[in-house]
Amino acid sequence: MSRISTAFFGVAVLYAIAGMVLGMVMGASQDFAMRPLHAHINLLGWAGLAIMGAFYGIAGARASSRLAWTVFAVSNLGNLLTLAMVYKISSGQPPIAPVLVAGEILIVAGMALFGVSVLLAGHKTAAAA
Ligand code: HEM
Repeated sequence: MSRISTAFFGVAVLYAIAGMVLGMVMGASQDFAMRPLHAHINLLGWAGLAIMGAFYGIAGARASSRLAWTVFAVSNLGNLLTLAMVYKISSGQPPIAPVLVAGEILIVAGMALFGVSVLLAGHKTAAAA
């Protein structure tokens, strides 16, 4: 497996464990205030990053390594900033608006760059066929 794929899956598993433990804590305490945080950790952190990792595993050398690492960095930074603000919102505090907006923009930018990665790899595959 490529290093980029391992990096995506490694971080995704950490998010999955954190999201699942948070879900267990919510269930055990019957306090569901952190439900949005739980959902976003699992979906942005686990599902989103694992899907990207799977793509880079399949694409292999057809995907640009530099672009893939940029997607990794941008997406992870976006997740961290956004999740910190979702935590604030879920605990009844106002979010720090510029941090929330920066996080959201980074997440969308990461996904857009991922889309470019997919298109370029698809183009290489078509050219080789
Ligand atoms: C050990 C694993 C997990 C546990 C114990 C768990 C637990 C929970 C609990 C207790 C709730 C709140 C239910 C309620 O309000 O009635 C919830 C909601 C939710 N969970 Fe999980 N969960 C787990 C894994 C996951 C995973 C893997 C995902 C997604 C990939 C996920 C996505 C969601 C979503 C989208 C919601 C609804 C959030 C909302 O309504 O705001 N969960 N989960």
